Amino acid sequence: HSVALVGAPLSRGQKRRGVDHGPATLRAAGLVERLAGLGCQVHDFGDLNFTQVPNDELYNNLILYPRSVGLASQMLADVVSRAVAAGHRCVTLGGDHSLALGSISGHTRQCPHLGVIWVDAHADINTPLTTQSGSLHGQPLSFLLRELQNKVPQLPGFSWLKPCLSASDIVYIGLRDVDPAEYYILKNFDIQYFSMRDIDRLGIQKVMERTFEQLMGRRQRPIHLSFDIDAFDPSLAPATGTPVLGGLTYREGMYITEEIHNTGMLSAVDMVEVNPLLGASQEAVKATAHLAVDVIATCFGQTREGAHIAFDELP
Ligand code: ARG
Ligand code: MN
Ligand code: MN
Ligand code: MN
Repeated sequence: HSVALVGAPLSRGQKRRGVDHGPATLRAAGLVERLAGLGCQVHDFGDLNFTQVPNDELYNNLILYPRSVGLASQMLADVVSRAVAAGHRCVTLGGDHSLALGSISGHTRQCPHLGVIWVDAHADINTPLTTQSGSLHGQPLSFLLRELQNKVPQLPGFSWLKPCLSASDIVYIGLRDVDPAEYYILKNFDIQYFSMRDIDRLGIQKVMERTFEQLMGRRQRPIHLSFDIDAFDPSLAPATGTPVLGGLTYREGMYITEEIHNTGMLSAVDMVEVNPLLGASQEAVKATAHLAVDVIATCFGQTREGAHIAFDELP
């Protein structure tokens, strides 16, 4: 099968320097070679060239770089849509999580009924009116959700964006830092989530069973996996901008992506928030990047059990 790689060096959705080097860091960790080694045909679309929009003033005295994030996401949406239309599975390398505005919008143009699995410490569903930080990486889902549109103001740079998801199309895994307004939204619209506490209670196997029951119980549909590296425990993924204690173990992370691969329905992946300027040492950065590459490789068939070869290939 064929995999398109799209680098999306977007950093204006948050306040820390360095996350725009995520795509280069993931490539340097051997991503292309790992996918090729799994038998994937890799089509590297390179890194998008996001120009900063001049005079990109705060919206509402609070929201940072709306025009830059809006334009970058619009460019990304076009590329993801083209990649999926060409028959590739599409991997977007972030960049901060505001890029999901673009990757999910572009993906839904080709697959209007897709389901989203959002693996993250955070819910990223603040609206421009509920955000405390003003950072757009904490808000992408609010713009994408149909049910929230009367709560979301029109931002400069966002006029191209149409809501394309319903509350029942999303399942979260790994939550442990949810703002009060976000919690209200999750409860009010009955959005399915599995917090770290839920993983502690149920175990990751039941969590995945229920995730697929929610998204595919009635019929099979393409899956968009949006994976924020801060879902992992900071001891495993230190090089990220908003780490939160008590995250996924390595084994939970691999189990999540093994099960998603096994559905046969994975259609696009975002890998976001790897920031090589954070983390205490070069080793910490390398460990974070290697982990992110393991997640992506597992999405495309790497297993912990060993790979199959045909019997007649045995020497
Ligand atoms: N909830 C916080 C906010 O809205 C943190 C969001 C962190 N998001 C992320 N993609 N790492 O600012
Ligand atoms: Mn996060
Ligand atoms: Mn996130
Ligand atoms: Mn490894």
